[in-house]
This record gives sequence, C-alpha cells and structure tokens, in this order.
Amino acid sequence: MATTAPDNQSPVIRRLDGTELAGKVAVVTGGSGGLGAAICQRLAEAGAAVVVGYNSSQQPAELLASQLPVVAGYNGEQPHCALAAPVTDGAAMKQMAEQVSERYGRCDILINCAGTTRYCPHDDLEGLDDELIDRILATNVRGPFASVRAFKSLLQQSGSAGQGSSLVVNISSIAAVTAMGSNVIYCASKAAVDNMTRSLARALAPAIRVVSVAPGLADTEFVKQMDQSWRDEQAERTPLKRLAAPEEVADAVIAAAAYLTFTTGNIIAVDGGRPLS
Ligand SMILES: NC(=O)c1ccc[n+]([C@@H]2O[C@H](COP(=O)([O-])OP(=O)(O)OC[C@H]3O[C@@H](n4cnc5c(N)ncnc54)[C@H](OP(=O)(O)O)[C@@H]3O)[C@@H](O)[C@H]2O)c1
Repeated sequence: MATTAPDNQSPVIRRLDGTELAGKVAVVTGGSGGLGAAICQRLAEAGAAVVVGYNSSQQPAELLASQLPVVAGYNGEQPHCALAAPVTDGAAMKQMAEQVSERYGRCDILINCAGTTRYCPHDDLEGLDDELIDRILATNVRGPFASVRAFKSLLQQSGSAGQGSSLVVNISSIAAVTAMGSNVIYCASKAAVDNMTRSLARALAPAIRVVSVAPGLADTEFVKQMDQSWRDEQAERTPLKRLAAPEEVADAVIAAAAYLTFTTGNIIAVDGGRPLS
C-alpha cells in the first residue's frame, strides 16, 4: 500500500514488508465489511494467512480472499480463504474453528469485527424494539464470546508454543465510553465488549492476549453515504479534524499483533481524540 502525503486529510499508511506476521494464521469475523476488509488487507500485507469470515456476504468474502496480497513464503500457493462465520450460531462457529484447524492446523490471531446496529435516536425508546435489542446483543456481545469460545483451543495451542502469546482483538467503539452512537443498546453492547475484553484477558493469560480496538467514526463506504454536512460536523468535533481511515483501524490491529506484545486487557482507541471534545 502506498505511503500518502501527511496532510491533515490523508493519514500516513505505512508499508508493511510481509515479515511482521509471517507464518501466522488470522481469522476475521465480519471480514468483508468496511473495517473487516481493511483489516484483512493489512494482515495479508503483514504476511499472515487470512480467513475472511462472512455471514450473508459469501461472494464478497470469497472475492476479497482471492484478491488479498500473497507475500513471499507461500511458494505461489493461495494462503487465504473465506469461511462462513455466523457469530450468533455457536455451533457454526465451532465448525468454523474445525475447518481452520483442518486447513491450517493453527490459529494465532482472532479478530472479532462482526457487528450490527440500526440508527435510533437515544430518546426514542419505543424505536428500540425487543427484536432489534436482541439482534444487537446477540451479534455484538454473544457473538465475540462465541467466537473466542470456539477458537480458544487453537489459540491456546499457538500461544503455548513458545513464540509469544496468541491474540484476540475485539473491535469495539468509542461509543462504549462516550455513550454517543447509533442507538442506546449499540453503545451498551460496545461497553460490554470492552468489559469482556478485560475478563477474557485475565482468564486466558498467559497463552492468549485479548485487547479491544475502539474506533471513532471511520470513513467506510457506509459512512461515506451519509449526509456530507453530518460527516463534516463529526470531523469538526474531532480534535484531529477528520474521520479515521479504515486502514488506521487496521493498523491498530497490526500493532497489537506484531508490536504490543506485553499488552493485554487494554482498550486501544483509534478516535482522533473525539472523547476530549
Ligand atoms: N464504521 C465505523 O465507523 C465503526 C466505528 C466504531 C466501531 N465499528 C465497529 O466495527 C465493526 C465493523 O463495522 P463496519 O463499519 O465494518 O460495518 P459493516 O461494513 O456493516 O460490516 C459489518 C460486518 O459484520 C458482519 N455481521 C453482521 N452480522 C453478523 C452475524 N450475525 N454473524 C457474522 N457476521 C455478521 C457482516 O457480515 P455479512 O456482510 O457477511 O453479513 C459485515 O461483514 C463493527 O463491530 C462495528 O460496530 C465501526
């Protein structure tokens, strides 16, 4: 990926050389979504074999897996693949872990990026019906837990192999602390994710590290479709005066996996200082 000019609007995206995560296997739920795709791309650039997890987007996930860069060391073989990862189905997640085990024999990095929400003003309590609340909590809270439960054994094997701990990254949100986000339950779900990160970091140490990466508003296709004046207002309210590039969120994942090797149970914010204003 090219290095871009360091002006106020475009972040510097650093070049990875493919050695950072060489030999590692990374699983990304919600892997073909706006942030998930950027995370898959950067993991592949760092040398990992990437499993793009999907729920409804099988074709986009397969296309993405086929287009991810293949760095040296794979002798021309395609290391990446797409697999079904419906996080609300605990049995299906166990099946996915078995498929990863059969195909790769290991899993070193698990990124819980699947998530769902729907906009509902915080004072519209009737707008948040029980069905929507259950869907958000099942996907955003039960989902990452089910995913960690399914991959615990594989992650423990990698993390006990003497090459440092394996890693779980839960993609939460600054909504967890600001209580500003698409709706009340979405914010609560992300606070639950951060809390779960801490519990699991304690419970799964020393073999497995667990962190949250908590983005502010990121400039994904979904957000690009929003009203420009609303996006401008969000950028204006952010001390760094712009939204996050998806690659910047992805680079927090790369940092946690490749460099922050003594970090566990932490919430890594990628928010341009938004909670300060
Ligand atoms: N974009 C932002 O500004 C922002 C800010 C803070 C936090 N986040 C968080 O970042 C994560 C990714 O968000 P995004 O912006 O990339 O959203 P997105 O483009 O809408 O992607 C959401 C992803 O979640 C997957 N998903 C939804 N329900 C699922 C289920 N039941 N099982 C498995 N996968 C499921 C979708 O998979 P399919 O398409 O295959 O159904 C999709 O890949 C979410 O957890 C979100 O809360 C985003």
